Amino acid sequence: MLLKEKVVIVTGSANGLGKGIARACHADGAKVVIADLEQSACQLVVDELGSNALAVACDVCSDEAQQNVIDKAIEKWGRVDCIVNNAGINFAKPFLETTKQDWDKVLNTNLRAVFFFMQKLCKYWIDNQTKGSIVNISSVHNQATLPGAGPYAATKNGLLGIMKCAVNELSSKGIRVNTVSPGLCNTNIWQDIIEAAPNEKECLDYWKQQIPIGRPSEPEEIGYTVSFLLSDRSSSTTGTNIYLDGGMTSQLISQAPYDSESID
Ligand SMILES: NC(=O)c1ccc[n+]([C@@H]2O[C@H](COP(=O)([O-])OP(=O)(O)OC[C@H]3O[C@@H](n4cnc5c(N)ncnc54)[C@H](O)[C@@H]3O)[C@@H](O)[C@H]2O)c1
Repeated sequence: MLLKEKVVIVTGSANGLGKGIARACHADGAKVVIADLEQSACQLVVDELGSNALAVACDVCSDEAQQNVIDKAIEKWGRVDCIVNNAGINFAKPFLETTKQDWDKVLNTNLRAVFFFMQKLCKYWIDNQTKGSIVNISSVHNQATLPGAGPYAATKNGLLGIMKCAVNELSSKGIRVNTVSPGLCNTNIWQDIIEAAPNEKECLDYWKQQIPIGRPSEPEEIGYTVSFLLSDRSSSTTGTNIYLDGGMTSQLISQAPYDSESID
């Protein structure tokens, strides 16, 4: 059991990737805190997991709500060992139309909240002279991006900067920080893409070409790598960013541009 006895907070874990990460950590023995916007949605995940799970409603953009998640975990289990900063919002709007309100909303949720949740836990670990392990959920958008993704791509790149800074300042205190960068995953985003397509088969064929493994990743597939990075099995791994993208970022173009003979 990779995470036996570890207390792990997973933000944004009432749905999608966060739920898969929480399921994987729980299956690996962790006590998991399901921290998401709505108490009832968090409770559904706790009901599914059964014992060793706790629902705490939380808007990660609020300092008080962040502190409440930490306090509730300590009240129930006596400590916190790990956090997965997964809560995030997607965004798509043309560069020239993006407003300051759009920018602030995406940056607050996807970047500012992560920095200050990390800061609170790092202070707690240092005060208690205990180790801590953090995994932040970035995206392939830190490598290459799409039209309309300006603020989103900025946040997903920013997470790498925060990680590197924290590694420089906090490794000597026994705190590790790693990043996971998923490609397309089988979550609401994927379901929305299929539902919005005029022709489902053409849509699926198109996406198969964009992902070398031919399908989106399942949330639990991301979750098991996160669990490894949180665990003591990866005790010297810090400051790393792992692409869990089914090969997307290895692919320069999705189809041969023209039929050609071998070049040798
Ligand atoms: N799904 C993908 O294909 C994909 C790919 C790469 C990266 N990601 C990243 O994974 C993370 C999760 O994405 P998802 O696709 O599962 O999204 P999702 O919308 O399915 O789930 C996100 C969860 O976060 C919660 N959340 C949003 N804002 C919050 C806030 N302020 N406070 C607390 N909880 C909040 C939502 O309630 C929801 O339960 C995001 O950071 C996203 O950028 C997703």
